[in-house]
Amino acid sequence: MNQTHFGFKKIDEGEKAHRVRSVFDSVASKYDIMNDLMSMGMHRAWKAYAVMVAGLRSGEAALDIAGGTGDMAQAFAKQVGPNGLVVHTDINLAMLRQGRDRLLDEGLMLPTTVCDAEALPFPDARFNLVCVSFGLRNMTHKDRALAEMARVLKPGGKLLVLEFSKVAQPLSKVYDWYSFQVLPRLGKVVAGDDASYRYLAESIRMHPDQAALKDLMQQNGFAHVDIHNLSFGVVALHVGIKC
Ligand SMILES: C[S@@+](CC[C@H](N)C(=O)[O-])C[C@H]1O[C@@H](n2cnc3c(N)ncnc32)[C@H](O)[C@@H]1O
Repeated sequence: MNQTHFGFKKIDEGEKAHRVRSVFDSVASKYDIMNDLMSMGMHRAWKAYAVMVAGLRSGEAALDIAGGTGDMAQAFAKQVGPNGLVVHTDINLAMLRQGRDRLLDEGLMLPTTVCDAEALPFPDARFNLVCVSFGLRNMTHKDRALAEMARVLKPGGKLLVLEFSKVAQPLSKVYDWYSFQVLPRLGKVVAGDDASYRYLAESIRMHPDQAALKDLMQQNGFAHVDIHNLSFGVVALHVGIKC
């Protein structure tokens, strides 16, 4: 069997989805509070920026992949309005349930589907926009997932990949210290789980950097790709257009 990475560990490809599922089963109930604490609230600004770039119009259709607790789906639902469509999906039922409950509390009842980004259960050319926010990093075959995202987009449709990326060099030491010393301790105290937050730090280091991800998107159906670095490259928004 082929090998892949789970953080810094090398494992059989067939094991990865199971291990990633365990991480998100473990953190689901504390996911939102941990996001605010770890990023000092910055994840809200990164997501708001991506939503602004999405620029969905009333009546359009959007797909939120690896949508977790629903931040992006909620914002897209406001953009498309009552005549539009936002489908909220994730491979993990525990994360999706948290999201569904939050969306219901906000008065939003969106179609919600458990599905693997590598085999999307939607027809070709269905959506104006597809978004994957902090999810691509966890996928075993990123190329397959990107090709699926291209398939379900209409020609001229937009893919947003919001993801941790390669931080600017002058910040890398302090960022490493924060990632490997602070995050696992915070995870232990707040979520009772340091290992999942060590995986988070490791998986960020193993994820393709800005240029490599742009190449991967170009090889899998996105002829035009723009990169928007956020917070000195801590996060990057890749915007791909299906041509
Ligand atoms: C860090 S959370 C991101 C949640 C949300 N999008 C956000 O920005 O807050 C990553 C999500 O990716 C999901 N995920 C991992 N592998 C996946 C796959 N192959 N297909 C769909 N979702 C996946 C996980 O279940 C998890 O909910």
